[in-house]
Formats: sequence, C-alpha cells, structure tokens
Amino acid sequence: MASDLETFPVRNGEDVVRARQIVRSRAMEVGFSLVEQTKIVTAASELARNTVIYGGGGEMHVERVYGGPKRNGLRLTFEDKGPGIADIGMAMQDGYSTSGGLGLGLPGTRRLMDDFEITSDYGKGTTITVRRWRR
Ligand SMILES: Nc1ncnc2c1ncn2[C@@H]1O[C@H](COP(=O)(O)OP(=O)(O)OP(=O)(O)O)[C@@H](O)[C@H]1O
Ligand SMILES: [Mg+2]
Repeated sequence: MASDLETFPVRNGEDVVRARQIVRSRAMEVGFSLVEQTKIVTAASELARNTVIYGGGGEMHVERVYGGPKRNGLRLTFEDKGPGIADIGMAMQDGYSTSGGLGLGLPGTRRLMDDFEITSDYGKGTTITVRRWRR
C-alpha cells in the first residue's frame, strides 16, 4: 500500500482557506467525485475551524492512500496542543457548543466521513483523524 503524507499549519483563518484548497485538490487526485470532494472539504473545514478556535492552532496531516481499486482514499488528521475536550461524548452530540455555535461541526464531520477517531487529553490537546474511501 502506497501513501503520501503532507503536513500543513492550521493557525488562522487564512490557513483554514488554504487547508480547504489543499484537501479539495488532493481529493481530486485520489479520484473522488465532485460530491464526495465537497463532503471531504466540508469535514476538513469544520475540523480546521475547531483547531483554530478551540485548539489555539495546530497542524493538518493529509495522507493519500493508494491500496487498490476499492482501497483508495484520503486520511486527514487535525492536531492541536490546546485545552482538549472535557467531555467527548457531549462534544459529539448535535447542538453541543461551548461558544454559542451550532454545535454541528464534530457530529456533522462524523456523518460525512467513513471513519472518525478522536483522542483528547483534557489539558493537553486534541487529535482527530478522519478517513473516506472511494466507492
Ligand atoms: N480542537 C478542539 N479543542 C478543544 N475543544 C474542542 C475542539 N474541537 C471542538 N471542541 C469542543 O467541542 C464543541 C463542539 O464542536 P463542534 O464543532 O461540533 O461545534 P461548534 O464548533 O461549537 O459549532 P459549529 O462547528 O457548528 O460552528 C465545541 O464547542 C468545543 O467546546
Ligand atoms: Mg466547530
């Protein structure tokens, strides 16, 4: 299985815009349809925004995975060293927000992607990995 890993900063609004563009072009390279590209970009955008707003900035890792006809996909990891999430179960619920937001970023992202993994150490930071396979 071949893969190709890249890392980008996610520290401010400009980085969020850039992250969206990078994810769009990588999703295109892996061969995702326009609809699928948009789902992946939306997920990336939500996670990048959270990284900036709550995590105090961090990094995005983008990995193109080439594992055969039905095993091509894209894995995205967002990592920050911010305060972490006190209650992950709550944060994953629709409508839960500590900032007066819609509280749809995390649960929406989980629905848009095939795999969703979250690790958060309260006080140490948050890492979220999502993956989508080509149909
Ligand atoms: N990287 C992070 N570090 C610390 N807390 C986070 C992080 N990402 C999310 N959270 C917490 O999880 C909550 C839910 O996140 P989610 O993205 O679902 O909603 P939101 O950002 O509040 O609103 P929306 O994304 O709909 O604008 C946030 O309000 C915040 O408290
Ligand atoms: Mg959010």
